[in-house]
Amino acid sequence: MLGATNLSDDSRAPLLIHSVADLRRWRRNALMAGKTVGMVPTMGALHDGHLNLVRRARTSCDLVVVCIYVNPSQFAPHEDLDQYPRTLQQDIALLGGSAKDAARQTDASATGCLADVVFAPSNESVYPDGITTVRKDQRGAFVEVLGLSHQMEGVTRPHFFRGVATIVTKLINLVQPDRVFFGQKDAQQCVVVRSLIRNLCLPVEMTVVETTREQDGLAMSSRNRYLTAEERQPAIALYKALRRAQTAYLEGERRRSALMELANAEISAAPNVSLEYLSLAHPRTLDELDNIGEDGAIISGAIRMPSARLIDNLLLGCEL
Ligand code: PAF
Repeated sequence: MLGATNLSDDSRAPLLIHSVADLRRWRRNALMAGKTVGMVPTMGALHDGHLNLVRRARTSCDLVVVCIYVNPSQFAPHEDLDQYPRTLQQDIALLGGSAKDAARQTDASATGCLADVVFAPSNESVYPDGITTVRKDQRGAFVEVLGLSHQMEGVTRPHFFRGVATIVTKLINLVQPDRVFFGQKDAQQCVVVRSLIRNLCLPVEMTVVETTREQDGLAMSSRNRYLTAEERQPAIALYKALRRAQTAYLEGERRRSALMELANAEISAAPNVSLEYLSLAHPRTLDELDNIGEDGAIISGAIRMPSARLIDNLLLGCEL
């Protein structure tokens, strides 16, 4: 075991761990101390939505690891990998203070912070054979969840869920959490990860946490910071559209045609908003539904605004 527990000077700081060796040491100590570990995978640029995932992890696990890693394999070459906000010091501050150096402390005692550990690996440690967004040049092992990755978000982002499934598998293998926490905002991601865990027999439980919203209903997202002042108000068109459909559903409407008509009307009325897709899908198979049956449905969509692409969803009589 490296270092000694010394929480007297900056006891509100999570441990910042970059290396796999330090993480493994910390994890072994947690196991030996009989502590349960919760993991919240993120790409950083933390907002209250992420913090609610961490808070949930805190209520059900002894120790909480927040992963902060902008994963190249879930971006296409034309997407915003380079511009994606990287705010590690701010993120650490939100999780409880400026981080300690893991070389000094890798024991598994709780820090008194929202998160006990921030795991921020390098590309080299996560992708030992290197990583590029150009798929034909990629080397090494990748994970695909077939049947759930090509529709909805997968239509315009065919690389996305392969990248997510790959990094989530790697992070679960590295952190070896007892529980993982994902946000409902990325509903398809939740369905894909649930299938990944089941199909690869990963020994971890998954919890999906309700979407955190701004006061006007806009789903919190790290990409909301791309929105200009003029775009901010019309950005809630997607949420309003989903809400209109949800209200009709709660009043008894089950037909796709009627629900989509209501949602489409809301989006067409908003300036600067172009609809990429609206989906009414079965909550486990993600098959598009003509009518909502007893399993319920995920109603979801994506809109493009000049500065950002936004996604959102609501659950109609189901859970993820
Ligand atoms: O939801 C996200 O932020 C990412 O897709 C995830 C799960 C951290 C994988 O990079």
